[in-house]
Amino acid sequence: MRNRMIAGNWKMNETFAEGVELAQGIVDQLASGTGNVDVVIAPPLVDLKGVSEVLTQANSSVALSAQNVYWEESGAFTGETSPAMLTSVGATYCIIGHSERRGYFGETDEDINRKAKALMAHDIVPISCCGESLEVRNAGTHVQFVVDQIKADTKGLEITDPSKYVIAYEPIWAIGTGMTATADDAQEVCGAIRKTLVEIFGAEIADGIRILYGGSAKPENVGGFLEKEDVDGALVGGASLKAGSFVAMVKSAMN
Ligand code: PGA
Repeated sequence: MRNRMIAGNWKMNETFAEGVELAQGIVDQLASGTGNVDVVIAPPLVDLKGVSEVLTQANSSVALSAQNVYWEESGAFTGETSPAMLTSVGATYCIIGHSERRGYFGETDEDINRKAKALMAHDIVPISCCGESLEVRNAGTHVQFVVDQIKADTKGLEITDPSKYVIAYEPIWAIGTGMTATADDAQEVCGAIRKTLVEIFGAEIADGIRILYGGSAKPENVGGFLEKEDVDGALVGGASLKAGSFVAMVKSAMN
């Protein structure tokens, strides 16, 4: 049985003070608990420590995620952040392979695979993103495209606890565009991802790995995605920047 997950990706939004305020709003509105739903927020790097303090002070079950990591332990890698540094400010999750990082910063599946391994060695849960462009979708090769990404991104990973590895399927054409995939579109690809995970890790592990949908997910449509067999939650961008809409999505997942 997989716990549902609602994860907020703040992207490059919220200064330190704004981030602390947003986190406070979220924990206040979730003060009565989140049931079986795992709730994660991913602020920008400079906000992590401040948001971590908000979560700790509120004794909140909301978990903290980074948006990126570098796979080396330390050293001359200007501008980068190691897994141990993320742990030191309270992050227990990290988004990797977001299409914006693949597209704007040239990240490859090989990079994403190395990041996953480095995070897991430090007991940080990767939220590993995949998804096709509109071009690929229109060519009708989206399922194979995503399956190939999954195979490359998970190459050589050892997963013993399936709750410690999360996948987010985010069709690029639906991110920040307001154009959502239908719940059936999401299930088609998430189902194929699950099958691929069964082939790689066996049924028991594959059954426990959460697969999130991302791309213009909002309070009004999240329920439809969550009804699908292989969709276990949402990775939310725009709608995670207001405490009210993010919390509404968590509540929807609790039903
Ligand atoms: P969106 O972003 O919800 O604003 O479409 C999702 C994401 O990119 O993680």
